Amino acid sequence: MSAKKREKKKEPEEGVEIESAVQEEEEVCPYCKGYGYVLSETGEAVPCECREGMLANLRLQEAHIPRKFAQKSLANFKGKDKIRKVLVEKAAEFIQNFRDNPEEHQGILMVGCTGSGKTHLALAILREIVVKGYTGLYYNVPELLNELRDTYNEPSEQIESDILNLAGEVGLLVLDDLGAERTSGWVRDRLFLIINRRYEALKPILVTTNLDWRELEEQVGERIVSRLYEMCPLVLEFPREDYRRQYVVREQKRRTKRK
Ligand SMILES: Nc1ncnc2c1ncn2[C@@H]1O[C@H](COP(=O)(O)OP(=O)(O)OP(=O)(O)O)[C@@H](O)[C@H]1O
Ligand SMILES: [Mg+2]
Ligand SMILES: [Zn+2]
Repeated sequence: MSAKKREKKKEPEEGVEIESAVQEEEEVCPYCKGYGYVLSETGEAVPCECREGMLANLRLQEAHIPRKFAQKSLANFKGKDKIRKVLVEKAAEFIQNFRDNPEEHQGILMVGCTGSGKTHLALAILREIVVKGYTGLYYNVPELLNELRDTYNEPSEQIESDILNLAGEVGLLVLDDLGAERTSGWVRDRLFLIINRRYEALKPILVTTNLDWRELEEQVGERIVSRLYEMCPLVLEFPREDYRRQYVVREQKRRTKRK
């Protein structure tokens, strides 16, 4: 299916399956049989109209969006309150203006308590950016550090420098839960390497954290935080509500209504 057709589709409510680009991949294109190219009248190989969607699927797979969040979008980020409305507006603006080689830093720092929706919104943005044609990568920071640690164990499938290079070069990097990991000199060094590489290349970064600036500085150090001030001109504060707990309350209400 072409990107245009996908855009026109109405975004469903939360809980309703979105016909995601990844699922579409299973249908083999009748024109090119999955090769991505067709022969023109003159016998030349030309890109098939399915190719754009096929490449988007590949980029989506490489972005490592966790399954739990594969269906999260701006449309199903609910809330009629001012805070959430502004969050969705700012996210949409970011997507619209996104460039992977900007003249100035254009990143976002998302701050808020547990369950306030940071990962949901961060991954909704990442997904749109990737569908738009850029490369993207999601990392939960404690997981990233684990992966880096694992590269020291023999035999290891990955090389540390490959992970660092990828995180440094991808179009948009999401670092989720910064400050949640136990700090050590090693942790700070690794985070610094990634963040500084992106800092120097003016590459966009989207960071989420449960901490305020002061706590973040205590946790990851002033050299990283100093760079984040510059790299994330947009700071989005999330509502002080745990949406996960509200889910339980809503379910209870629904059940008592039924009785
Ligand atoms: N405004 C919202 N509309 C719909 N679903 C929401 C909203 N806010 C949060 N959720 C849902 O609540 C759950 C928790 O959200 P999420 O994981 O994004 O929180 P978080 O801020 O990243 O929390 P943590 O700091 O613990 O990682 C997810 O299933 C998410 O989709
Ligand atoms: Mg989260
Ligand atoms: Zn095709």
